[in-house]
Amino acid sequence: MSSSSAPAAPAAPRSAADDTAGAYDRPTTHDSATDDGFDRLRLQFEGLGAGYLAACTGGLPPAAARAAALDDLDLWSAGFAGPAHYDAAVTRARHAFARLADVDTANVAIGSQTSVFAGMIAASIPDGAEVLCVDGDFSSMVFPFLQQEHRGVRVRHAPLTGLEDAITTRTHLVAYSLVQSATGEVADAQSIRTAADAVGARVLCDVTQAAGWLPLEPCTADALVCHTYKWLCAPRGVCFLSVAPRFIEELRPIHAAWYAGENPWDACYGPSAPLASSARRFDVSPAWQAFAAGAPAIELFASTNIRRVHDYDVALADAFANGLGLQRSARELGSAIVTWSDPGSAALERLTSAGLVASGRAGRARVAFHVWNDEGDVERALAALAG
Ligand SMILES: Cc1ncc(COP(=O)(O)O)c(C=O)c1O
Repeated sequence: MSSSSAPAAPAAPRSAADDTAGAYDRPTTHDSATDDGFDRLRLQFEGLGAGYLAACTGGLPPAAARAAALDDLDLWSAGFAGPAHYDAAVTRARHAFARLADVDTANVAIGSQTSVFAGMIAASIPDGAEVLCVDGDFSSMVFPFLQQEHRGVRVRHAPLTGLEDAITTRTHLVAYSLVQSATGEVADAQSIRTAADAVGARVLCDVTQAAGWLPLEPCTADALVCHTYKWLCAPRGVCFLSVAPRFIEELRPIHAAWYAGENPWDACYGPSAPLASSARRFDVSPAWQAFAAGAPAIELFASTNIRRVHDYDVALADAFANGLGLQRSARELGSAIVTWSDPGSAALERLTSAGLVASGRAGRARVAFHVWNDEGDVERALAALAG
């Protein structure tokens, strides 16, 4: 956010973080035809992540994010970390996410949790409207809609496979995660969009388990929400909502406060509420320290060819799933997350005992492969499960 009357930041000592500030906008060598940023991204995790198979739970900090967090601690301790300082990080992060999602920056709001943005959208849908959710989707994409049932909002749940067929003329909003947290299944975003358009339904898509490894271009939703602490490797508390222009008018900014103001520094006190005309009207005031470390992390992914990350992550996931002899469904194939039935958590215990970090959700063991992993992690995990 920029503001003519923002409190000026005191002159702070130059730090390593200053040297990365604005890197997103600067032309860099990775823009050349031969460098798609992938090797540079992997280098950021050098020495980290051996045996860490849990990007779907939380990402690891790239070197630039770690350096920015440490610099921020120093600035904070020295009394130099004020609102204007953090505004720069918020602006960088917003730009980087817009680039990653291939949307206009003016259509991107910042916040701290998926559920807050889903809650705002849930509060904005008309009385009695139908919302279609995915059976077993992550609760941040389901519970906010259930909380609207007192005014006649009806929530219907359908399996991810064939979700598009469950969209009817009664459906007002389809709310789904592009990649399912519990199963790793990847939704058919284009079919869902086409079916929604056919009946004039709106689409909310959560890309928290997708952004950072799955190219987002095919995912054209009216609203896209993303908490960036998993595959984009930012701290928790850096979340974005991108809203298509036609949808902005349909949403009520129920959590509006100073940061949603056209000029936040003129919007610190009542009685009137001059909100931004862009999607910034949906901004939730930022979790400052999270954005300080989050901006360089998101910039790194925004300046990398995500198709390369996809191919790398999925090749490792496929090698693991094939080694385990898993029969995967069409929606599970092509995912960086591999899950399988593990009702007593025996598989998860074996992985954990071997020093690997994995997770279990909804009675399933779950492993995820990202840029810090390599074939050695696949072999270790298969050996742990065979032993
Ligand atoms: C698909 C999905 N969305 C969102 C979240 C996080 O939700 P929130 O930002 O509300 O904590 C998770 C966490 O596992 C998730 O898997």
